[in-house]
Amino acid sequence: MDEHTPVLVEEALGALHIDAETDAQRHALYVDATYGRGGHSARILQALGPSGRLLAIDRDPQAVAAARERFAKDQRVVVVHAAFGTLESLVAAHGEGRACRGILFDFGVSSAQLDQAQRGFSFQVDGPLDMRMDPTSGQSAAQWLAHASLDEIRNVIGTLGEERFAGRVARAIVEARAREPITRTAQLAQIVSAAVRTREPGKNPATRSFQALRMFVNDELGEIERGLGAALRVLATGGRLVAISFHSLEDRLVKNFMRRESSPDPLLAKLPMLPPGYAPLLQLVGKKQRAGEEERRANPRSRSAILRVAERLDTPLPAVSGGRR
Ligand SMILES: C[S@@+](CC[C@H](N)C(=O)[O-])C[C@H]1O[C@@H](n2cnc3c(N)ncnc32)[C@H](O)[C@@H]1O
Repeated sequence: MDEHTPVLVEEALGALHIDAETDAQRHALYVDATYGRGGHSARILQALGPSGRLLAIDRDPQAVAAARERFAKDQRVVVVHAAFGTLESLVAAHGEGRACRGILFDFGVSSAQLDQAQRGFSFQVDGPLDMRMDPTSGQSAAQWLAHASLDEIRNVIGTLGEERFAGRVARAIVEARAREPITRTAQLAQIVSAAVRTREPGKNPATRSFQALRMFVNDELGEIERGLGAALRVLATGGRLVAISFHSLEDRLVKNFMRRESSPDPLLAKLPMLPPGYAPLLQLVGKKQRAGEEERRANPRSRSAILRVAERLDTPLPAVSGGRR
């Protein structure tokens, strides 16, 4: 299977606020930082005028190939294979100096990645234990598990998987790998399931550990932090930052980032006027949004999705590097 049902598409489109009729937007640049299988990109292109640009980014070579094939004839689309943590240099290299009016992040993995056994993300279908979104760089989950210490494994599974049996899971992994290398997803799922004592309703006992390893192998939280920071630096005044998260660790990063960047520095808040470079850079737009009943019924994945939106204010970035951002 090579498909992905996009979530909160109309909500994301509304939030990006694309109006191809206005002068400010006619030649604008929009960024889909997580192309996947292009559900959001396709909808952005419907709204974008003939002179607009869409920069479609994905770190997964298969997603990039799918994007290049699907939009080969659309001159408005530039497809780039990269991690969105490097967004600032990507916009500089491919944005043609256009004002960036909107950036969409739809975090996590796509169904196309989860459903392919050979990508090694799934505890449901057996495959090589890889889990890299970009298999051309970094180390696979199997490579990491072969040499990580007990404490490192426990930390990753406890922190990123919020697994209360992280200690037992880590010990089981270390014992199992002493007998034979852990190289398959089914093998790992079995080791983890035997170590997790309780059963959460409707949840495979390996869910939390697999999620943790996937997030670690791809440095997903680090990427989100870098991507959000870069978005702030490339967005034009009035440009929209739209982020869709699927679990609490992602959403907490987005929420805290948007809150911090939309409030004055608490140490300076009481001053009659904020010094240049210290006024907030963002303004929150509306409250967090979730999928409606119909979408939740049709696409169970949408049930955990949370969309947050902020708008770039007309505030210059602090001149000195190494400041608060
Ligand atoms: C949830 S899917 C996006 C689905 C997409 N919005 C659609 O409609 O098809 C997430 C995608 O983002 C990509 N991705 C995740 N983290 C990334 C990162 N740091 N840089 C670039 N792409 C990333 C994944 O490879 C995956 O294809």
